[in-house]
Amino acid sequence: MLGGGGKTESRELRRLAGGVDRGGPLKIGVIGVGVMGSNHARVLSEMAGVTLVGVVDPDRTQREFVGRTLGCAEFTDIESLVRAGVEAVTIAAPTHLHHDLALDCISRGLHVMVEKPIAPTVEEGGAIVAAARRAGVTLMVGHVERFNPAVESIKRAIKGQDILSIAITRVGPFPPRMSNVGVVIDLAVHDIDLIRWFTDSEIVEIQPQLSSAVAEREDIALLQFRTASGVLAHINTNWLTPFKARTIHVATRDKYLIGDLLTLQVTECFGFQPDGSYSMRHLSVGYSEPLRAELRAFVESIRTGRSPAVTGEEGVASLEIAIRCLDTRAELSRAPQRKAPRRVVG
Ligand SMILES: NC(=O)c1ccc[n+]([C@@H]2O[C@H](COP(=O)([O-])OP(=O)(O)OC[C@H]3O[C@@H](n4cnc5c(N)ncnc54)[C@H](O)[C@@H]3O)[C@@H](O)[C@H]2O)c1
Repeated sequence: MLGGGGKTESRELRRLAGGVDRGGPLKIGVIGVGVMGSNHARVLSEMAGVTLVGVVDPDRTQREFVGRTLGCAEFTDIESLVRAGVEAVTIAAPTHLHHDLALDCISRGLHVMVEKPIAPTVEEGGAIVAAARRAGVTLMVGHVERFNPAVESIKRAIKGQDILSIAITRVGPFPPRMSNVGVVIDLAVHDIDLIRWFTDSEIVEIQPQLSSAVAEREDIALLQFRTASGVLAHINTNWLTPFKARTIHVATRDKYLIGDLLTLQVTECFGFQPDGSYSMRHLSVGYSEPLRAELRAFVESIRTGRSPAVTGEEGVASLEIAIRCLDTRAELSRAPQRKAPRRVVG
């Protein structure tokens, strides 16, 4: 239990205790219970081996609604959550607050899972990683798509394969609430993470095409990459398609995989013959809620002390690529004016 002994003392006590209360349920809290955080709280409230101690949100209506619905305490500040005995938190407040909230929690010796993107800038993301390392606490980043069962099935199918190319489509209508980021930081960062994870290689070349067709920020992005291992990858993302679509195509030397992340169907083409014929099969894809699997992985990494499924370093690396896509745009917009059409629609 943490008391009023100050941040340094409570961190030392936690370290001496081995990080978590061994044997008992892990006491966890959620910071920011809007759209995403209320789902964190719901899943954690149902999870075995975990006690949802409480939620923190400055929005009184929202925090009282979540507290009442899930039967947990609700607070206006982190200090009160800490006094209630929390050992770990998930942070699902707006991205521009991730840095300050994460550093506050880490300085109190709490294990942290922070929603994607880890922070708005690489510097802030790096500071979170460095603070967690110094404090010896677990830091995970919420790249939930890694836990999509269709994505997991593709990852298994390409194990040991010579990957040649990856094409990801993540399109849909405008989100009901416009955030202060565009499609690259909001959506493409998921797929940048998947490309790095599938290939186990860093992205070394970037060719972005961005356009702000309707919104102030970019709402169409066609991003091309090359990894250090030589894989060519492509992300097509926008907020202009009237329906949601999320697909992944992966070509390896021996197989072609087609995954639908919404219907959870994964098809494998294989056995290519000189006459152009080949075989096809549907791969088995189980169903589990990705967020549940992600939060379970966070809890397991705290309990075992093993590296989390998505490390802070990986979160920063994916963010850095996303920001480089935007920086390239900034460089282009400083270039001499040409009579280029503002709207670029394929
Ligand atoms: N992994 C995913 O697929 C996914 C999906 C959606 C959002 N997200 C991420 O989750 C985060 C939140 O997004 P959202 O769509 O839920 O936003 P949201 O606006 O619905 O919710 C944010 C909540 O944080 C609260 N908040 C504001 N300041 C706070 C503070 N100082 N302390 C605690 N809470 C505070 C707000 O009152 C609000 O209730 C963002 O980082 C976003 O990128 C991830």
